[in-house]
Amino acid sequence: MTMQRILTIIGARPQFIKACMVSRVIRQADDIEEIMLHTGQHFDANMSDIFFNQLSIPRPDIQLNVHGGSHGEMTGRMLAEIERALIKHKPDRVLVYGDTNSTLAGALAAAKLHIPVAHIEAGLRSFNMEMPEEINRILTDQVSDLLFCPTEAAVQNLNKEGFASKSAQVLQVGDVMQDSALLFAEQAIPPAGELPEGFILATLHRAENTDDPERLEAIVAALNEINSTFAPVVLPLHPRTRKLIAQSDLELHAHLIDPVGYLEMVWLLDHCELVLTDSGGVQKEAFFFGKACVTMRDQTEWVELINAGANELVGAGKDKIIDAVTRNLGRKVQDAEQLYGGGKAAERIVSEMAKAGT
Ligand code: UD1
Ligand code: UDP
Repeated sequence: MTMQRILTIIGARPQFIKACMVSRVIRQADDIEEIMLHTGQHFDANMSDIFFNQLSIPRPDIQLNVHGGSHGEMTGRMLAEIERALIKHKPDRVLVYGDTNSTLAGALAAAKLHIPVAHIEAGLRSFNMEMPEEINRILTDQVSDLLFCPTEAAVQNLNKEGFASKSAQVLQVGDVMQDSALLFAEQAIPPAGELPEGFILATLHRAENTDDPERLEAIVAALNEINSTFAPVVLPLHPRTRKLIAQSDLELHAHLIDPVGYLEMVWLLDHCELVLTDSGGVQKEAFFFGKACVTMRDQTEWVELINAGANELVGAGKDKIIDAVTRNLGRKVQDAEQLYGGGKAAERIVSEMAKAGT
């Protein structure tokens, strides 16, 4: 039996949570070994270390320190450093997750060295090329040979883009975030400090909202009114948003807390009355925990949640956000059709990588 060496590239918060599940399965396999590279994109203790500690993810074998700067600069610096690591460690395959700058840099560095690339969360599309994530995911899919799709819609997107006639394999495997939610729900812990009863859990960090002053102002106005009139809003504030609000003259009146670990986050998801977010992952997690979700974006990649009536897209208009929140507060939703595979995605992914071989 030949041992297959996979080099996994991670760098941003959601990637630690996703990689945790796949890494666990790889550690049990006797024909695959994993080397983990952390680009350094997220670096605060509560955006990175906390996940390695809480979720028992092995320390990265290679730790880069690339963060900040423009998109091009960040991606370019990662590309150069990842290429050096790939030349040194000679993996048989590179594994990347999602749609961040770390994802694209990892996929591109590997493709240029003719190392096969597996992409987890392949095929997702918002059809909005203004989003940095849309550019990252389209380009990553183009250079991948194993495309692990979480949903039926993702497979259809790739088919429409002509992947069916390429040598790449498009595989619907389910969503690794459901694997994580199922495993760690049992270990949930409440965040430190007093929390208000009957709260809405909110998150806010997408560039299209935080970097657009008009959208940010409207969202802050909506959150303030919801918090003062309808239900307390608990908001673990992403560092990007904290910085941008501090630089503006906006005042955000909600129950603001620092970013929390995943175990605290699943506790918040389990105990809230509604999820209000612009995150990709949190939209699905609301669903996993049976909560309705109001999404402050103009498009979502998770279209099946909209079709199932579990998620409502409201963009960044103040009145639309408030209206959707009041209608959905306390509403429960059900995953009747196992839209995300039921928690077996990591096993399927590792088994397919083993089959693909060296
Ligand atoms: C990135 C991803 C986004 C993903 C998000 C998950 C890209 C293009 N975007 O966005 O798709 O949804 O991660 O959270 O890759 N910062 C800190 N401390 C940290 C991390 C970030 O202060 O630990 C600051 C950075 O210095 C920067 C800002 O937050 O000023 C944004 O960070 P960046 O990694 O560029 O993008 P995110 O908004 O986190
Ligand atoms: N998350 C967390 N602590 C927080 C906020 C989010 O653990 O304070 C988790 C969340 O449960 C989900 C992931 O981080 O698993 C989502 O990350 P984020 O919203 O930053 O990125 P996106 O999914 O939009 O790329």
